[in-house]
Amino acid sequence: MDSTYSKVKTGIPGLDSVISGGLKVGRAVTVSGPPGSGKTTFGLQYLYSGAKDFDEPGVYITLSQNIEEIKQDSKSFGWDLDDLISQDKIMMVDARPFKIQDELIGKDDSLYRGEQIPFQHLTKLILSSIKRIEAKRVVIDSITILSMQYPDEFYLRQGLQGLIQALENFGVTTIVLSEFDETSKIPLEWFAGSGIIQLRHTRKEDTMERTIQIAKMRGVKHSEQIHPLEFDSNGMKLLHPKLMP
Ligand SMILES: Nc1ncnc2c1ncn2[C@@H]1O[C@H](COP(=O)(O)OP(=O)(O)O)[C@@H](O)[C@H]1O
Ligand SMILES: [Mg+2]
Repeated sequence: MDSTYSKVKTGIPGLDSVISGGLKVGRAVTVSGPPGSGKTTFGLQYLYSGAKDFDEPGVYITLSQNIEEIKQDSKSFGWDLDDLISQDKIMMVDARPFKIQDELIGKDDSLYRGEQIPFQHLTKLILSSIKRIEAKRVVIDSITILSMQYPDEFYLRQGLQGLIQALENFGVTTIVLSEFDETSKIPLEWFAGSGIIQLRHTRKEDTMERTIQIAKMRGVKHSEQIHPLEFDSNGMKLLHPKLMP
């Protein structure tokens, strides 16, 4: 086991210890789960903690929620994104293909006015954002909306691979969020990245139980357990993580 590679701390308490210390630098990992399972929270906590605790700037690409809403929701965990944005430690990029509704129309170059976003265009937008703040971390929330736009699976797989390759060449460590539940077809992004983390919520008696599982993490010794996950006022954390050497 190669334990000499550089590790990127996720900032999610308990998670790094079950993946031998952190994510592999320069790789892309998919975090999948159904709505409400914590994907956006995972992505934001990864960026917030990277910027705040590890001096690693990060780019957040939103393809679904608008930026104001994300900032607002982050406050419930005590995360002040505006402060880090003003220091160029976090950059939020709105790349929603359907953001035709608000007053931004006509003022924003990155606006697609309902057109499809070609992968190359999105890749360029992400790379220029990375350069602008010298980002080390990237979150894409979520890739599923792109998958829905491209019925041609060959094109989609090529596009995803090109995007991930470009990010890896830049040396950034990426979290690709993806919508998935057990009834879905396996999403193509699972093949393109170097890891898969699955978030779940299931009913347990009269409450909901949240879990996290490392389904794949290339080149990393990782836990094979399904770990309970808890949300509190500081974000998410793993309960009873078992240390992996
Ligand atoms: N401050 C908070 N404290 C505890 N749980 C929270 C808090 N804010 C949000 N949540 C939980 O997180 C869930 C949203 O998770 P989110 O990351 O948006 O999921 P996804 O992106 O997978 O849809 C909410 O449904 C709620 O249960
Ligand atoms: Mg979300």
